[in-house]
Amino acid sequence: MQIKPGNVVVLTGASGGIGVHFVRAFARLGTRLVLAAYPGNDLQALRSEIEKEGCDSVDMICDLRDNQQRVKLIETALDRFGRVDVLVNNAGVEYTSFFHELTEAQIAEVLAVNLESPMMLARLVLPTMLAQKRGHIVNIASLAGKSGPAFQESYAATKAGLIAFTASLRSTYRTEGPSASAIVPGFVEAGIYSRLKAKTGVSAPALLGVSPPEAVVNAVLRAIECDSPELIINPMPVRPLLAFTALFPRAGEWITEKIGANNFFRKAIQQDKTTPK
Ligand SMILES: NC(=O)c1ccc[n+]([C@@H]2O[C@H](COP(=O)([O-])OP(=O)(O)OC[C@H]3O[C@@H](n4cnc5c(N)ncnc54)[C@H](OP(=O)(O)O)[C@@H]3O)[C@@H](O)[C@H]2O)c1
Repeated sequence: MQIKPGNVVVLTGASGGIGVHFVRAFARLGTRLVLAAYPGNDLQALRSEIEKEGCDSVDMICDLRDNQQRVKLIETALDRFGRVDVLVNNAGVEYTSFFHELTEAQIAEVLAVNLESPMMLARLVLPTMLAQKRGHIVNIASLAGKSGPAFQESYAATKAGLIAFTASLRSTYRTEGPSASAIVPGFVEAGIYSRLKAKTGVSAPALLGVSPPEAVVNAVLRAIECDSPELIINPMPVRPLLAFTALFPRAGEWITEKIGANNFFRKAIQQDKTTPK
């Protein structure tokens, strides 16, 4: 689907590390924007920035764990602009921890923000996209959803779910107008990864590398324009490893361990536990 000036884009996690790059890119394309975040402290400043550049936008502090607020978000988009062309499910929450040490509330938060909310928001925009015979839903997943790194159980589960949800959405709706793409980044120099690195002093394994946020933005735009099912964003090519792991799970698990992703999160936990708060 070609992104045209005036198209309406609903973006969650708008003021997050990667989110701000999406906002600026969509604003440059002349789209109208509905920006959501929670707690959303930086949202208004971001909106003022793009409005100065002439971007028509609305911002909403929206706790995506709450269905009423999700409904309100899409109602706001439709009341204000009358259509939704693109939904980018970008908001995400991650806790690096032993799974048994997470609270039930933290696990519920990860499930709600990373998986339940993208599904419910997609459900809410699909009738409009079907009526328009046009629309694209972009789900920002993660390589964690493909590889299951250590200390990422809830996060990896939601991202794997998001990848499967996207594939299923495509199978159902692609010929009806709306489509969907999963974007699968490895480590990105922004947001979650940058904070973890700053907090613990631990960097991503050199064998995996770190992508700039612009690479994720470009992938999202390409996915919409080319109707891509799934784009993996990582400096090192990882699809061969994923294919190998699918064929030989035990050997794949061994290689994944050697590449160092598990160790990155392991070291981050050790560092976090020994750093004075
Ligand atoms: N950074 C990476 O290395 C990396 C790698 C792979 C995938 N990803 C994925 O990329 C996406 C963006 O990640 P990021 O690194 O930019 O994360 P981030 O900086 O932590 O931003 C997360 C965004 O989600 C919003 N949010 C959190 N809880 C929310 C809730 N309950 N309701 C509504 N919004 C909520 C935050 O709002 P506030 O702005 O108000 O805080 C923020 O805008 C996520 O889906 C993440 O899983 C990131």
